[in-house]
Amino acid sequence: MAGQMLYVKKNKGDGKMSKGDVVFEKDNEYYTPKYVVDFFYPDGFDYDPATCEGKAKEFGVPHYDTIETDGLIQDWTPYKRIWINPPFSEKHKFLAKAVETYNIAHNTIYVLFPIEFLTTARFHDLNCKCKLFIPRGRVNFESGLGKQGKSPAFGSVIIKLADENSVEYIDLKAEKPGITDIETVTGLNSTTIEKKSWYR
Ligand SMILES: C[S@@+](CC[C@H](N)C(=O)[O-])C[C@H]1O[C@@H](n2cnc3c(N)ncnc32)[C@H](O)[C@@H]1O
Repeated sequence: MAGQMLYVKKNKGDGKMSKGDVVFEKDNEYYTPKYVVDFFYPDGFDYDPATCEGKAKEFGVPHYDTIETDGLIQDWTPYKRIWINPPFSEKHKFLAKAVETYNIAHNTIYVLFPIEFLTTARFHDLNCKCKLFIPRGRVNFESGLGKQGKSPAFGSVIIKLADENSVEYIDLKAEKPGITDIETVTGLNSTTIEKKSWYR
């Protein structure tokens, strides 16, 4: 996937490419390597509100939105497991919508953000608690606009919206991340749900 031209037509020479009326900005077209998404949910997410067709297919996400269908105007509450690596220029809007959705539906939502965000007032004032996953090393993103794109020069944090605040240090490239700690949780109607370790 890295280095491929994904449904973009022409290079306008200013970090933007266009297809019909849609303009793709270089800073928004950095894609997540699949091993990162698999780390959190190897069995797959069911919705990605900010993606392109190629990555949605690669991740095996059955429901998704792209810049053409605009994830920001969709209802995210019916989905159980949502993966978001938002377009850089709209990241705060996507996070705000994720928080709004979580507060209604309590679904499982992961949002990848620049780690610098954690030092901002905007993060401290977020209307939600979260589990923070701090990766060992930087994620090298895939440039959807081809070789002209270099991976962003900042580290990432993966924010899982939650009812309590917590932090976990993770090694995304470890071969078998945390496979020993199987735990169970009590679900609705006192049913017992076995949570596998990768259900983070
Ligand atoms: C940072 S990339 C992430 C792609 C993929 N979700 C991943 O994790 O690799 C963000 C994607 O969102 C798309 N995008 C931009 N604005 C959007 C919008 N309003 N609604 C849905 N997708 C949008 C961009 O074109 C880009 O492909």
